[in-house]
Amino acid sequence: MPPLRPESEIRPESASQGLPLRRWHAEDEQATEWEVSQLIGYLIVGLQPDVCIELGCYHGQTTEQIGRAIHENRHGHLHAIDSDAAALAVARDRCAGLAVSLQLADADTWLLPQCVDFAFVDHGEPADRIGVLPRLLEVMSSRGVIVWHDTGDQFPLRRQLETFLPGTGWNIVYLPTSRGLGIMSSWPFTARPLIV
Ligand SMILES: C[S@@+](CC[C@H](N)C(=O)[O-])C[C@H]1O[C@@H](n2cnc3c(N)ncnc32)[C@H](O)[C@@H]1O
Repeated sequence: MPPLRPESEIRPESASQGLPLRRWHAEDEQATEWEVSQLIGYLIVGLQPDVCIELGCYHGQTTEQIGRAIHENRHGHLHAIDSDAAALAVARDRCAGLAVSLQLADADTWLLPQCVDFAFVDHGEPADRIGVLPRLLEVMSSRGVIVWHDTGDQFPLRRQLETFLPGTGWNIVYLPTSRGLGIMSSWPFTARPLIV
């Protein structure tokens, strides 16, 4: 694992959240907070999804955590994409031997898999992520969970989500992590059939 530095050095703008930033760590400003990647791995163990996707995998830190959790679950598959070939090559090394497919693709045009049980949305700038949401809602299974990175007040993403969500039947909870994490579900109110 590359050396980690405290978020107070990497993302000082997150200080606006009033959180103890030194408690989270990251490789750089692109990589997810290490503690948050681990949390996402635990979510995979807790939720037991089959079809998982990650939009924007960078060096594969969270990709690896999801892949390891899938291995522990003994079922499931992660389809992860990134638009940067060099970043993807690092992720490929990191995820060798895991049930993870890595693809060079643009999140805005990538043909999403059907019946997605778990999506981690982390591509490009936080403000640009919302564009994928309408397509994503079309392919989520009824037990599907969408995790949004960077929903802290220092980014525009939470305000964009708040504008979009009313009337969709989806709910979201925002967790107080360094950069913010939004966990979205429509369970149990969705009309879509549960695929098992
Ligand atoms: C914040 S990083 C992802 C961090 C990673 N999820 C992790 O957990 O460490 C954002 C990544 O999105 C990629 N990216 C930027 N625009 C993209 C797009 N339109 N489609 C797919 N990936 C994109 C970048 O190359 C970068 O690697």
